[in-house]
Order: sequence, then structure tokens, then C-alpha cells
Amino acid sequence: MGVFEDSVSTFLRPIVSYLEDDSVSEVLVNGPDEIFIEQRGLLQKVDATFGDEQALQAAVRNIAQFVGRRIDAENPILDARLPDGSRVAAVLPPCSRKGTSLSIRKFNGGVPSFGDLIKRGSITKDAARFIDICVYLSKNIIISGGTGSGKTTLLNVIGSRIPKTQRTLVIEDSSELQIQSDHVVFFESQPPDEHGKGEVSIRDLIRSALRLRPDRIIVGEVRGSEAIDLITAMNTGHGGSMGTTHANTPVDALVRLETLAMIGGTQVPVAAIRRQIASAIHLVVQIKRMNDGSRKVVQISEVMPEVDEFGKYQVKAIFEFVQKGRNEAGEVVGEMVPTGYLPSFFREIQLNRIPFPKEKFEPPSWYIEHQKKTAA
Ligand SMILES: Nc1ncnc2c1ncn2[C@@H]1O[C@H](COP(=O)(O)OP(=O)(O)OP(=O)(O)O)[C@@H](O)[C@H]1O
Ligand SMILES: [Mg+2]
Repeated sequence: MGVFEDSVSTFLRPIVSYLEDDSVSEVLVNGPDEIFIEQRGLLQKVDATFGDEQALQAAVRNIAQFVGRRIDAENPILDARLPDGSRVAAVLPPCSRKGTSLSIRKFNGGVPSFGDLIKRGSITKDAARFIDICVYLSKNIIISGGTGSGKTTLLNVIGSRIPKTQRTLVIEDSSELQIQSDHVVFFESQPPDEHGKGEVSIRDLIRSALRLRPDRIIVGEVRGSEAIDLITAMNTGHGGSMGTTHANTPVDALVRLETLAMIGGTQVPVAAIRRQIASAIHLVVQIKRMNDGSRKVVQISEVMPEVDEFGKYQVKAIFEFVQKGRNEAGEVVGEMVPTGYLPSFFREIQLNRIPFPKEKFEPPSWYIEHQKKTAA
């Protein structure tokens, strides 16, 4: 059996070969005749076709049935996880205007480790080690990045570094995280039924999670009013909590959380929310899908606990990826380096006798030159 059972695969015949090919990470169908795949990080259009809209809809209905859901005119949106961890999302017309849209993000070969990410050139050993230390020291971490930049994958890796003795509650919209730890409980939100009843939101889940004695809370993706609950939890003794959010820079990630938190905490003035965010979040890890298709951690930044006199977040890059060019194969070439900024909690690293000396934060001389040039 591949991603699906044979009975479902029959309906997916036009795309089965891609689903079975480990070098393909994603299959995107934009109507019956337009199919793209992502292979080794790059999107490309392929010749396959479903023939007509009916055949495509039959395939999507079968997938829905396979995961115990339904998709029809009344519920034209499907967002589900397959038993092997792959993600399926589909939207029927007329909401989807070119015909049914379908995306299958495959879960090829389990959760990577930091070692795998280092091998792929997504992060350096020192930067990975530093994040590891932050997890150990119970820093609250937000992973920020664009669509498909590797946020969820990175959260799996980082979340799996939580010390085994700690109880972690994972909260998601549609379950996709596979945190590897000894004591993890997974929760999934629930959409309302056809009568509009029975909805359980991420907010509801965070609030009940707080009564379930968590050491840490992980929110798969913060994209709504639950931001306020996560921030409150981070500020009230659930250090070491984590989540991802959709943003292009660490500062944008904080601003986005602020906007989302405002929806959830309408009574709270923005200045107060800003202060809460600054004190709640210690670290933002920015990941990016580079234009060669690779994913790289491009910044690891500390968020200072206070906003400045103008109410602005103070964010200091600790590690940064500097692109130097491209090689003959078109791959992005660059280096991730420490910026020279010593994290405010460096003393804590020393006090805990963690072997990560001050020199690890010192940049190479070319970086100092490069900084001078860009500043000039
Ligand atoms: N470090 C990496 N190197 C190469 N490919 C990666 C890396 N991380 C993730 N990917 C691939 O990129 C795709 C998207 O990954 P992931 O789901 O983690 O991204 P995301 O940012 O959470 O996406 P979304 O915005 O949809 O939530 C997957 O196919 C995954 O296999
Ligand atoms: Mg994701």
C-alpha cells in the first residue's frame, strides 16, 4: 500500500506514480488538467490529467471517505491527515474556480532530526545546538516562515528535543505534528457539524490544556485569536512553549501575533499586548524557502523582554544566514554565522555548565567587513 489503499488509488491513477515517488514531496491539482508536483524542493508542471472534473471529484470524494470525512456542495472544503501522516486539502467549485483543487503533502519517511537538517544544509551544527540549549532552558520559541517553508517540519524537530521528563500538550487544527517524546498528548480542534454545533476551537483546547497540568504547550500553527491564549500561557509558567506562525521576518512574526492577539483580547489595549508578547517570546527562528527550493533557517533572533520607548519590539539576531551566491548547479551558496550578539541569557548557559562557550557567538572577520559595507 502506498499513501492510499488500492481502492482509492484507482481513482488517483493520474497521480499515483508521483505519490509513490519518494523524491516528490507534494502534488498540487488545480482543476482536472493542471497538475504540479514539488520534486526536490522545486515546483514543476506535469503532463498528467484527470480527464474531466467528474473524475477529479470522484477521486476527492474517495479520499474524503477514506479518512472518514465528506466533501460535497454543503461542505466544499476538506482538510485532513492520512494515516501515514500526509496532509490532504481540497476545495470544490464554485469556491475553487478552475475546478476542484487538491493538494497532497506527502510525509516522506518520518520526522527528520537536527542531524538530517544539518546534512540538507538547512541549519548549521552550532545553530542547531544553540536552539537545543534554548529548548533545554525552557525558552518560548516561535518558528516563523512563509507557506511551505518548513515550519511544521522544524517544529517537529525542535519539539522532539524537549526533555523526556516533561509533559507536553500539542494543539493543532488538523493533526500533523509528530513530536517524538515520552510524554506527549495530542489534541485536534473540531469543526462545527452541519447544524453549526460542536465546534472545539484551538482557543478552547489551549484553555482546557492549561487544566491538564502541562509543562509545555505546542500550538501547531497560530493563525487566529488563540494567539492571546498562547501568549498568556507562555507568560504564566508554561515556559518552553512553542508554535509556528506565518511571517517573513522575526519582527513581522511578532506583529502578526499582536494582530491575532488583538482579535482574541479586544478589551486589552495594544500597548499591553505588545508588552505581553515581548515578555512571552524569547526566540524567533525564521525559516525560508530559498529560490533553489531548499529550506534554510535564515535567522535565529532573541526578543528582548521590553519594547523600546516607541513601543517597538527589540529583536536581536544571534545567528544569520548570509547568501554569497549560487553554484553551477543553481544551488544557493552561503553561510550561517553568529552575528556577534551575545544572548541576554548567556549567563544562564554558563550557570548550567552547558558547553557552548562565548566564542561560538563570535562572527568570522568577513562577516564583520560585510556588516560594515551594508551599513555604509
Ligand atoms: N529542511 C527542509 N529541507 C528540505 N525540504 C523540507 C525541509 N523542511 C520541510 N521540507 C519540505 O517542505 C514541505 C513543507 O514543509 P512543512 O509542512 O514543514 O512547511 P510549513 O511551513 O509548515 O508549510 P505550511 O505553510 O503549509 O504550514 C514539505 O514537503 C517538506 O517535506
Ligand atoms: Mg505547517
